[in-house]
Amino acid sequence: MEYTAKALEHHWMPFTANRDFKAHPRLLVSAKGVYYHNHKGEKILDGSSGLFCVAAGHGRREIADAVAKQLVELDYCAPFQSGHPLSFEFANRLAAHTPKDLDYIFFGNSGSEAVDTAIKICLAYHRTRGQGQRMRFVSRERAYHGVNIGGTSLSGLVKNRDAFGAGLAGVVHIRHTWLSENRFTKGQPDAGAELAEDLRRMVELYGADTIAACFVEPIAGSTGILVPPKGYLERLREICDTHGILLVFDEVICGFGRTGKAFAAQSFGVTPDIMTMAKALTNAAQPMGAVAVSKKVYDAIVNAAPEASIELFHGYTYSGHPAACAAGLATLDIYEKERLFERAAEMSSYFLEAVFSLSDLPVITDIRGYGMIAGFDVASAAKPGARGYEVQKRLFEAGLHIKTTGDAGIVAPPLIAEKSHIDEMCDILRNVLRTYPAQTADIRQARSS
Ligand SMILES: Cc1ncc(COP(=O)(O)O)c(C=O)c1O
Repeated sequence: MEYTAKALEHHWMPFTANRDFKAHPRLLVSAKGVYYHNHKGEKILDGSSGLFCVAAGHGRREIADAVAKQLVELDYCAPFQSGHPLSFEFANRLAAHTPKDLDYIFFGNSGSEAVDTAIKICLAYHRTRGQGQRMRFVSRERAYHGVNIGGTSLSGLVKNRDAFGAGLAGVVHIRHTWLSENRFTKGQPDAGAELAEDLRRMVELYGADTIAACFVEPIAGSTGILVPPKGYLERLREICDTHGILLVFDEVICGFGRTGKAFAAQSFGVTPDIMTMAKALTNAAQPMGAVAVSKKVYDAIVNAAPEASIELFHGYTYSGHPAACAAGLATLDIYEKERLFERAAEMSSYFLEAVFSLSDLPVITDIRGYGMIAGFDVASAAKPGARGYEVQKRLFEAGLHIKTTGDAGIVAPPLIAEKSHIDEMCDILRNVLRTYPAQTADIRQARSS
């Protein structure tokens, strides 16, 4: 196949500048370990684990073999009123890693489906307890909760919402946790726990008995990595407990070792009632998402239904797909055998040190990071987001793939990365970012604001 704009015309690519991409394609054709190869045969270091999902590195033979074997043995089975052993085995294995009693697992196919499933579980939970009037959801500015209509409504990223109307009724947004005084903080910032009081204000404004749940990413990911201030998540938990509000952690990015423990809930010592996961759940070898709920939530919904009747009228044709479960089980085997979550914790200080060493570059206006994930902001050019996109393209040309959102870059290498890979990543970042004009007016302003 030729890689001309004409040949690439018919695939409408997601979250992509289609016309620009097709004129200058960046195609990846193979991958192994922490490297991709592009269609020109060049090696590209994967600085963001694909989209934060390939935690165990690319091309894992164990996962591919498990999927192939499963597809030959049992390719599919209807997940409604029938089942296959692997989904139960996978749920049991996952429950050994999830925090506290979040041991009941509902499967879907993506993070977005996990989020919309979690929304529906919250509504069903309150309804079965005679509190069906709890229909409001509290989310945050700068949040990303996927792209289905529920998650889009929860989203606090302006561009992800603005073409799509009013969204779900009753979603309110509290402030994000970025504070100028916390710029260039490694780990959890000291300032900002009081931002959690915004949730209390929503309680005062709307009445606790109208609020179903508060959704947060423990570390806000897609917006550019906002690490929760010390005491912030704890305070959200307290307010939720006081007012009977469910706390939902969206761990789609944070989960599976990214923070140095299986889940961010464990790293930060705060347990939600419901948790979403996806991405590294299968090391991205198969599409899959899941929701883990506490025994309290599961029992409330399941025990409220009459015997031998369906308890939750929700599910997907591919919920708990055999091939995805096989991929997930093989992925957990790797995580456990190679101690990748512990490895992430051990590598974190080296990784953060290396990324924060870029602080001297004039174009960088902030760096944030925790565990094996970090974000940096570049001073905006005339049009916000334009410089971030340009940086992403230039890094790719220089041999590094990272995710950018607006003018923020996000680095999160596979958890198998060696120190040499982290060095290589930071060298490429430095070489590209240092070419941006030193101390132009807009940069000076951003650095001092
Ligand atoms: C926190 C969070 N939730 C949900 C999603 C949506 O996941 P997916 O793209 O698999 O639908 C993402 C994706 O990046 C995410 O970061």
